[in-house]
Amino acid sequence: MSPEAPIHEAPFKVGLLGFGTVGAAFAELLQERADEIERFNGRRPVISGVLTRTRGDFEEILAEADIIVEVMGGIEPAREYLLRAMRAGKDVVSANKQLLSQHGEELFETAREHDVRLRFEAAVAGTVPVVRVLEESLSATPIDRIHGIVNGTTNFILTEMTHGSSYAEALAEAQRKGYAEADPSDDVSGRDAAAKMAILARLAFGTPVHLDDVRYEGIEHLHGDDLEYAREFGLGLKLIGTAERIDGGLSVSVYPTFLYSGHPLAAISGSFNAVTVESETITEITLSGPGAGGRQTASAVLGDVVSVMTGGARPPAPPLPLRLVEDVQSAFYLHLDVADRPGVLASVTKVLGEHDVSIKSVVQRGMGENARLVMVTHPVVESSLRTAVERVGEFDFMRSTPRTIRVIEEEFV
Ligand SMILES: NC(=O)c1ccc[n+]([C@@H]2O[C@H](COP(=O)([O-])OP(=O)(O)OC[C@H]3O[C@@H](n4cnc5c(N)ncnc54)[C@H](OP(=O)(O)O)[C@@H]3O)[C@@H](O)[C@H]2O)c1
Repeated sequence: MSPEAPIHEAPFKVGLLGFGTVGAAFAELLQERADEIERFNGRRPVISGVLTRTRGDFEEILAEADIIVEVMGGIEPAREYLLRAMRAGKDVVSANKQLLSQHGEELFETAREHDVRLRFEAAVAGTVPVVRVLEESLSATPIDRIHGIVNGTTNFILTEMTHGSSYAEALAEAQRKGYAEADPSDDVSGRDAAAKMAILARLAFGTPVHLDDVRYEGIEHLHGDDLEYAREFGLGLKLIGTAERIDGGLSVSVYPTFLYSGHPLAAISGSFNAVTVESETITEITLSGPGAGGRQTASAVLGDVVSVMTGGARPPAPPLPLRLVEDVQSAFYLHLDVADRPGVLASVTKVLGEHDVSIKSVVQRGMGENARLVMVTHPVVESSLRTAVERVGEFDFMRSTPRTIRVIEEEFV
């Protein structure tokens, strides 16, 4: 062939593991976008094999493919297939947050060892391209903190509750709209968000974080009247994932949290996701976009495939472990159902004061059987707050167990 002759490069062969909601949408999107991708990258992506429980053979798919895309879900056999693909020198893409949050180090280590790419944008925050931003755009930025709304289902439910729905009504609506699974427990318990925060924390702070290292709490126990009271303080409720450097260590958690309206995540409503990255160097960057959904997720997966075709980022560097910190400072919202009698507020504030809990604002509502003290504290070490609240709970004027919800103090203006 003369040097001037047009070069028709071989197609870029994609072995697809899984053909469910995401896999089928990915196959459709790939076909739609193949011309454009070929025009920009010189190679045409094609699906060379598909594996489901009833179709395809993994060994044959692996032998044929240039890249393996895993959208099966679950731990096994997804873990085994990804490891085998990388050991065979193939780049891989996965949307599997449970797998990455529980076996991430093994997968990253294998990718480094065999010098292949492991991309997983779709595993973290729906369509929000935060993995790439952390790995590439912010790779030279020392990150102090990440806050994320990384579960669209719970954000939708909390948005509905803010507009007056009960938890049960909001969950039913989320299921009707297809945002929540028939079994929504992974979402509403906070476990799905915890898995995503483990992956984000690993990327941002270079420390191995396993799903079991993430403290998390869900939204099932929330009361509509907490949202109403909080409105009086100018607060809105979100399920917030946090990963932050604290005293040379790292804390990773997911909790229902009140935000003041100036916080960049306060305006994220419905099934959207968003991530805020904070650093002294950049102040704050917020990325937001639609949460999960077959086609949206497929677009993140296809973006990863194109990134591999164009030589995108290598797996994260080997870990530099940071100590995991559990007892962190936070401001708290505190809801106390109390008997309506003199001296109650004084007794409560005395106990709180003895544990260094200082009150920022307080409202008293109702009379008799409906009397309530609702307050927001200044930031306090969580263990002090817990001990103080336990002691307050022992007063004979308490009519039910005190309720606490974290509050993020900062406002960005
Ligand atoms: N759905 C979303 O919006 C979304 C968003 C972000 C991330 N994700 C992630 O994407 C992945 C796929 O989710 P999905 O909603 O597309 O799941 P899905 O609809 O349940 O599809 C799973 C696919 O994988 C196949 N599969 C499962 N176990 C298998 C096994 N042992 N051997 C061979 N094939 C197997 C299934 O085969 P059969 O058809 O034979 O059952 C099915 O085709 C999960 O990791 C999920 O967390 C999903």
